[in-house]
Amino acid sequence: ARRAGTWAADRCARLLPHEMADFSKVARAGSPEERLLRRLDRTRMPRHVAIIMDGNGRWAKGRGLPRVEGHRAGVAAVRDVIEVAAQLGIEVLTLYAFSVENWKRPRYEVWALMNLLKDYLRRELPQLVDHGIRLQLVGRWRELDPSVVAQLEKALEATADGRGMQLNIALNYSGRCEIVDACRDIVADWAGGERVEIDEETIGRYLYTSGQPDPDLLIRSSGEQRVSNFLLWQIAYAEIWMTDTLWPDFRRRHFMEAIVDFQARNRRFGAVPAADEESAADRGSA
Ligand code: FPP
Repeated sequence: ARRAGTWAADRCARLLPHEMADFSKVARAGSPEERLLRRLDRTRMPRHVAIIMDGNGRWAKGRGLPRVEGHRAGVAAVRDVIEVAAQLGIEVLTLYAFSVENWKRPRYEVWALMNLLKDYLRRELPQLVDHGIRLQLVGRWRELDPSVVAQLEKALEATADGRGMQLNIALNYSGRCEIVDACRDIVADWAGGERVEIDEETIGRYLYTSGQPDPDLLIRSSGEQRVSNFLLWQIAYAEIWMTDTLWPDFRRRHFMEAIVDFQARNRRFGAVPAADEESAADRGSA
């Protein structure tokens, strides 16, 4: 098992995500992870993977622990997934860490989550920088506690020049709020005299994920089958992969299983498979 600090910074942070990909670092020879790795088609990797990390509370409850212990254990999963995603050359990884709806949780749990985030950034920032990971925040994160905002701004600045994987952390995020914010910004630009065209391209450009490819793959842990207000616009054509595994138990093998499954799917984007199109044309001409 890999632990914090074992991710050797042996690659240049100036490389692009696919150039930074290093499959040889993903798994130990002879491990189940290595068998999964061999099943991955490097030429058909998802560009953007988004994850709803769910099940921390149940993981803790199952062990007779307070809920926050589940969140704490979930950080190990976060670390492993970020590492493997970068090693696999994923361009964008988006993690749903705190939703607008999560404010309804007990004050102590919210406080503990914010502290875990601050601790994570304090501890892991040097590693993120070494690996060229560029942090971006999606959501109304500026409304968080000033101490959290300060830590986030520090991490944004420190990773801004990274040319490796883009790591989006969704904080105080809601897909509906994101669309509302985009509409408000469009209206503000109109009021300022900028006559932007209202089309899909424009809406995409005003979202928090502006300029990024849409998620190809959406992963959700803990057996729940919901989208939970996550990237509502962007997941229009995402493949969804769900696992019963609770987030604190989620590791790189689950991430790779999701990609193997993704690669076996037939993504049609509303069209028909080419073979069917040909046979339909044959019938038409007959
Ligand atoms: C959902 O589990 C998880 C969350 C609301 C928070 C996710 C946060 C972390 C994994 C730790 C901090 C994050 C980073 C990026 C360092 P739940 O509490 O809803 O679980 P339940 O459905 O079993 O109650």
